[in-house]
Amino acid sequence: MKRSDYGIDAPGLVRKMFLKGAGALLLILPAAFGFWPSRPWGVILTILLLLCAAYFLGQGGLMLYSSLIGKLKERERLLDLISWQGTERVLDVGCGRGLMLVGAARRLTAGRAVGIDLWQGADQADNRPEAALNNARIEGVAKRIAVSTADMRQLPFSNESFDVVISHWAVHNLHEADDRTRALSEMVRVLKPAGYVVLADIEHHAEYAATFKQLGLIDIRHVGDSPMTAIMAAASFGNFRPTAVAARKMPA
Ligand SMILES: C[S@@+](CC[C@H](N)C(=O)[O-])C[C@H]1O[C@@H](n2cnc3c(N)ncnc32)[C@H](O)[C@@H]1O
Repeated sequence: MKRSDYGIDAPGLVRKMFLKGAGALLLILPAAFGFWPSRPWGVILTILLLLCAAYFLGQGGLMLYSSLIGKLKERERLLDLISWQGTERVLDVGCGRGLMLVGAARRLTAGRAVGIDLWQGADQADNRPEAALNNARIEGVAKRIAVSTADMRQLPFSNESFDVVISHWAVHNLHEADDRTRALSEMVRVLKPAGYVVLADIEHHAEYAATFKQLGLIDIRHVGDSPMTAIMAAASFGNFRPTAVAARKMPA
């Protein structure tokens, strides 16, 4: 039986981490053949290189774990934050290969889920609309989803047209704070009154919560912290904390 494949995020960065880790290990090799400064510099250099290797290989390993295992578990935890009726219209912003899009569609009976993306290969390996559609077919929800090409800073949808807006590990790819604010404004614009937004990302959570507050959302919560996310944050010096900000639009 074919299994869905939600791809490896930031594949270039993962490759770089493993290459740097392997490089640090290779540099220790001369020590084994005696081509190395004698004590104490040889010992200090070996320890430093071992620490570098452990850091880079550990980072690469954590990123691979998150892409292949962690984010599948996280998807269900994030979707559990919403009180599903089954009839919702859902938007997945930066859907990539369809992780949240397909997960949301599995919770729908009569509703529909739409994913938008620019399909950037640097952000996810083999990032294509067909990959999301294929994953939807494998998980039995192809009839309930649609994908289209759009920029999250300018969503091609009318005001108040979705009951749920979700986004997973996508908004941080906008490097300017102004662009991230535009993307969040667009999410709020297309959200219906009383609708839910769940914005999961690896950084910028405080900024997202503040922006949602300015945009008038209510019930703003930081969710998804766990011992594993704390380990990831510590190991990456705070650069990678896969948690989420959840909020609702004021009822009409
Ligand atoms: C790390 S991937 C995450 C994909 C998917 N949400 C997941 O969790 O598997 C980030 C996604 O954001 C998309 N993206 C980046 N900038 C975008 C933009 N301005 N508008 C729409 N999508 C964008 C990328 O193409 C990529 O698919």
